[in-house]
Amino acid sequence: MRTPCFVANWKMNKTLGEAQEYLRTLEKRWPHLPASSWEAILAPPFIMLAPMAELLKASTLRIGLAAQNVHFEDRGAYTGEISPLMLRDVGCRYVIIGHSERRTYFGETNALIHKKLAAALRAGLIPILCVGETREEREEEKTWEVIERQLREGLDDLRPGPSDWLIAYEPVWAIGTGLTPTPAEAEAVHLQIRDFFRSLSGEEADTPRILYGGSVTDKNIAAFMQEEDIDGALAGGASLSADSFCNMIEQGVKAKER
Ligand code: 13P
Repeated sequence: MRTPCFVANWKMNKTLGEAQEYLRTLEKRWPHLPASSWEAILAPPFIMLAPMAELLKASTLRIGLAAQNVHFEDRGAYTGEISPLMLRDVGCRYVIIGHSERRTYFGETNALIHKKLAAALRAGLIPILCVGETREEREEEKTWEVIERQLREGLDDLRPGPSDWLIAYEPVWAIGTGLTPTPAEAEAVHLQIRDFFRSLSGEEADTPRILYGGSVTDKNIAAFMQEEDIDGALAGGASLSADSFCNMIEQGVKAKER
């Protein structure tokens, strides 16, 4: 059984005061669902990880913390960067790696993403590896070719266990646009990703959880979660409101149980 997982990627949004307000709303609005039936993760900007870890420790909220990026060395002369050890040190358990915005705006290549994955795993962090095709690649029917290369080159020689990491399928054209693939189209890609892992580790082997991301909201989550191979969501815009993030979790978990 793969536990549904919902990740709020705040990207470059919110001040610390707004983050505190968000946590206060989460405490009031926390989904009343059996704790074992779902998992939630918050990915705030770096600067908020340490204070949020303290706030979460003092609260009743059961929620993991993710960084949105990480460097591939543990320490050294890399001005402006944050290492996996530093993330662990402040109580961060997860890290998003290879988000399309990092690939597009910061030139991250599959080779660099591989180094970051290796470093995160070495430090005991759980990477959330993002893959996905652009609109042009989709129109040229290269979706799987692109994703297969992102997975193969991102992994290279790494063979993390199924619970050591998460995968997020985020079609680039669906991010922040209000456009989404149909649930069936997303499911087809999720199944290809799952088959990729089965081909690496054996037909019967467990595979990592695969989240869908790209204009996912509390309104459309149920339809995605009804698909067999969609194990949760990586949400951007819709996760900025604690209410809508909680609604999304509730709708998503219920849809999975049906
Ligand atoms: P949106 O939910 O705003 O489309 O962003 C998705 C995303 O990039 C999450 O990582």
